[in-house]
Amino acid sequence: MVTIAQSPRCASLREFLVQDCEMAESLIDVRHLPKREAYRVLSEQLESVCADERDPVALMATIACLLHHGFGHLWTGFYRADGDRRLVVGPYQGSLGCMDIAIGRGVCGTAAAERRTMVVPDVREFPGHIACDARSLSEIVVPVIAPNGRVIAVLDIDSEALATFDDDDARALESMMSRYAPRLAGMG
Ligand code: SME
Repeated sequence: MVTIAQSPRCASLREFLVQDCEMAESLIDVRHLPKREAYRVLSEQLESVCADERDPVALMATIACLLHHGFGHLWTGFYRADGDRRLVVGPYQGSLGCMDIAIGRGVCGTAAAERRTMVVPDVREFPGHIACDARSLSEIVVPVIAPNGRVIAVLDIDSEALATFDDDDARALESMMSRYAPRLAGMG
């Protein structure tokens, strides 16, 4: 794990990673950065690592890994749509995730059914919240919408702290999902 602020002499992230870490795959801890900058750094690394990748599982796994370790979240990963009724767990990092979630249930199923990002500052106040890990206190779920308009997955992130996520997270993660949605849907 590297902290990018420890090496400010490189102009670009790639230069930093290649010169200072000798590999573009080093994990970057962005917790000390302002949120927008943190997402910019991680998005740039994601582009660098995944530029030519088209495999949806490889992309989901890499997105989950970079976000999870970058921010030190409790759980970060995808639930994939399996037909119109259920989400099934996909690539993730963290503690054991629930295997499947009905569309329309919980935070994930609500985001998928309503096709919108859910920011939940306190999961105890979300009716029907599904607790895969009792340590989770706040959560954000962003739908992944394919070019044909179908919700093909949701990105779910859980935090051990209350009110971890806000509009900056929502906008940055929506932008990341919309950029990768064609490839995550196997249409890119
Ligand atoms: N809390 C989610 C379930 C998934 S876990 O957090 C990994 C929900 O209410 O949909």
